[in-house]
Amino acid sequence: MPENRVTWEQIKNWREAEPIFALTAYDYPTARLLDEAGVDILHVGDSLGMTVLGCADTVDVTISDMAHHTKAVARARRRALVTADLPCQTYATPVDAVCNARLLVAAGTDAVKIEGGADIVPQIRALSAAGIPVMGHIGLLPQRIRDEGGIYRKKGRTDAEVQRLREDAVAVQEAGVFAIVLEAVVSEVAVELTRRLAVPTIGIASGAGMRGQIRVIHDVLGLTPWFDFPHVKPVVNLAAEIKDAVRQLKRQF
Ligand code: KIV
Repeated sequence: MPENRVTWEQIKNWREAEPIFALTAYDYPTARLLDEAGVDILHVGDSLGMTVLGCADTVDVTISDMAHHTKAVARARRRALVTADLPCQTYATPVDAVCNARLLVAAGTDAVKIEGGADIVPQIRALSAAGIPVMGHIGLLPQRIRDEGGIYRKKGRTDAEVQRLREDAVAVQEAGVFAIVLEAVVSEVAVELTRRLAVPTIGIASGAGMRGQIRVIHDVLGLTPWFDFPHVKPVVNLAAEIKDAVRQLKRQF
């Protein structure tokens, strides 16, 4: 293993002045460029259902989709930690969680991410006991979006939701996660959770003040303009640049 490889232990005890910088990646060239640009975590997100496979949400992504893309990302990385999502329906029981996570480890991931709170504590404990590092994910859970009528809604707006987030955060920390992704959590609540927890929080659509930030690379690069998420502010508009380049090429023929 290269000396400068980022480890899950390093993420858990993050001491750098700069925040943990995490981006999704699903293929070799993108993962290689992001790794070379200094990303700390290359996350093979099940968002690949939407960004790469043309699905409406992440719910139908399979473990073989995840393994396929994890292999490509793992081949590309030199420095970053590779994490991969356990997709929907693959961790209904602790035994399922461990069997499916082993497939992703065999594909090259260093750790898995799993969505849920107190309800998935037995799964997190089983994964940790099997030697598989786990990143938690609370707040908005895209794998449960159909239960919410397909609406992506911020979490932590009511006292009951805040209380639930506090309980979930502590439950997954105690179960053994090395970091927790906070997705679409009201900013003040995300900051409060960050202060309460010993493990680092990594935010997306949850404002500033967390130990790290994670983004979907297609959102950053403006590659999927057909998804209209209010929190997404692309850094560049590659969709327009690709279309321009293709039109230019067409004119040359
Ligand atoms: O699948 C995904 O893109 C994620 C986000 C939290 C980055 O898990």
